[in-house]
Amino acid sequence: MTQRLVIAVDGPAAAGKGTLARSLAEALGLPYLDTGLLYRATGRRMIDAGHDPATAPAEEFAATVGMEDLRRTDLRVPEVDRAASLVAAQPAVRRVLVDVQRRFAGAHGAVLDGRDIGTVIFPDAQVKLYITASARTRAERRWEQMATDLNAPDRAAQIAQVEREIAARDAADSVRATAPLRPADDAVHIETDHLDAAAVLAEALRIVALKTR
Ligand code: DC
Repeated sequence: MTQRLVIAVDGPAAAGKGTLARSLAEALGLPYLDTGLLYRATGRRMIDAGHDPATAPAEEFAATVGMEDLRRTDLRVPEVDRAASLVAAQPAVRRVLVDVQRRFAGAHGAVLDGRDIGTVIFPDAQVKLYITASARTRAERRWEQMATDLNAPDRAAQIAQVEREIAARDAADSVRATAPLRPADDAVHIETDHLDAAAVLAEALRIVALKTR
């Protein structure tokens, strides 16, 4: 590959962006960055320092987030889900993290997944994918990842609760003033309700081939 290839993978929570972006990066031999982890690590640092992410400025925490923070194992817990969404709405936090994301793609390109990769971080990305699924499908997938007992008697109630949390986070991510969740005008949409991970990857590779030939 002579030209730097940047692939933007955006969409709402639990739509399958991460699974797709990781396998796409592997298939194409590109570095992969889950940009949600930058917001999660920022929120995590605030909580650890005893600050309320709903009210306190998070810029200084975002500025010190490094790649080693992204490997922490305590970034996908409900309090961090909430903190990440709150700090992600702070314009100063987003300004700080823009540079980290642009530098990551560096000279060699990358696959990045997030909410604003195709709209703000890399508006000139050669390939932009927007991955969606219904809130119910996304809640079922997220629940299956988290559940300790897949036959729990209150399975339906648990999934309904996850669906409410996902819908609340989608709403917060979509209405914020800075870099809200929305597809880039030139993004190709992949709707994943009825596709498994292999089918989503195949479709994405087909789009990459079309866009890069
Ligand atoms: O994808 P995720 O659930 O790990 O993202 C965590 C939070 O960070 C989520 O509320 C949306 C926000 N986020 C963002 O605003 N911009 C990105 N590029 C990635 C995530």
